[in-house]
Amino acid sequence: MIPTPHIEAKNKEEIAKTVLMPGDPLRAKFIADNFLEDVKQFNSVRNVLGYTGTYKGRRISVMASGMGMPSIGIYSYELFKFYGVENIIRIGSCGAYTPELKLYDVILAKEAWSESTYAKVQGGYQRDVIEGSPELNEKLIKIAAELGIPINVARIHSSDVFYRENFEQYKEIRDKYGCVAVEMEAFALFHNAKVLGKNAACLLTVSDNLATGEETTSQERQNAFTNMMKIALEMAE
Ligand code: ADE
Repeated sequence: MIPTPHIEAKNKEEIAKTVLMPGDPLRAKFIADNFLEDVKQFNSVRNVLGYTGTYKGRRISVMASGMGMPSIGIYSYELFKFYGVENIIRIGSCGAYTPELKLYDVILAKEAWSESTYAKVQGGYQRDVIEGSPELNEKLIKIAAELGIPINVARIHSSDVFYRENFEQYKEIRDKYGCVAVEMEAFALFHNAKVLGKNAACLLTVSDNLATGEETTSQERQNAFTNMMKIALEMAE
């Protein structure tokens, strides 16, 4: 079933076995423009840009996920199921729930907790926690150590809601469920990987802190995520 409704690549070979997924299409372009060689664009449907190239001579793809679980749910499913992709590594931003996490700190999401119905509706999954791939996580931890980049391995919250009327709710989610930060995609990505027998991981950079009120501008975010990108790019095969 390729091309798929949302990806226009005409054959599997256009996409590498490992795909990095930022939320923002322009971040996918930024990575392709600044870090990859021999780049070929394979998707522009809905401006969800996707590229394949090489990093240090090894092949890798980068494609945007859009924001939220419905969006990453569609793109990761099509890449895994129809394009033969084996590994998806989300590289995103998150809001920290604890004052100890500083802006630009890097988090590896060992598991995602969510109140979302995504996994239940998609495949009857009843729990509210889904783990990322231990194999990918082990590799990412090793790479980060080799590069000398500190990472926090922790449980994160995947939320369907960015603007909550009850702002203070984050404290309960932090204290009751042990989540150190919030983003909006990992739970659905991890679920799709699980049901399709594939691998997914999620690296995050802290872009704002709900506990301290610190935040970055969108312009700062565009360029400041280099540490996370360098770790993820080393997964090229
Ligand atoms: N991604 C970055 N910051 C976030 C926040 N505060 N809530 C949800 N997702 C985020």
